[in-house]
Amino acid sequence: LSSIQVDVSAVAEGTQLTVKWLGKPVFIRHRSAADIERARADDTAALIDHDAENANKPGEPATDANRTLDEEGKWLVMIGVCTHLGCVPIGDGAGDFGGWFCPCHGSHYDAAGRIRKGPAPQNLHIPVASFVNDTTIKLG
Ligand code: FES
Repeated sequence: LSSIQVDVSAVAEGTQLTVKWLGKPVFIRHRSAADIERARADDTAALIDHDAENANKPGEPATDANRTLDEEGKWLVMIGVCTHLGCVPIGDGAGDFGGWFCPCHGSHYDAAGRIRKGPAPQNLHIPVASFVNDTTIKLG
């Protein structure tokens, strides 16, 4: 009922598809090798929110591997709503940490969608999601 399937076959590496789900934008990012490397290197950085905020892995620490949909880390699926007051962050490597930037009050998220600077208290949330097959992601 509340789940949808998204064809991601046309989402090129290094780009992002935004879909609407349950009235909210959902970012589906196909990360490049550089994105993955940057995000994983930041596992040891000073994080503001230490929880992965991943509905598929409740209570797990905020490592990059705990936030991506696949083990390789190519697919990052997140609710596109800033955890401060709900604006939609800008993507494609925006902000000081190569991820997303929320222009409303200046929150910077890294390449794993973790909050790194600014007033937002939490990492961008990860919804219940899974692969149905190689090119289809199910939300919900
Ligand atoms: Fe994003 Fe305030 S709503 S920084």
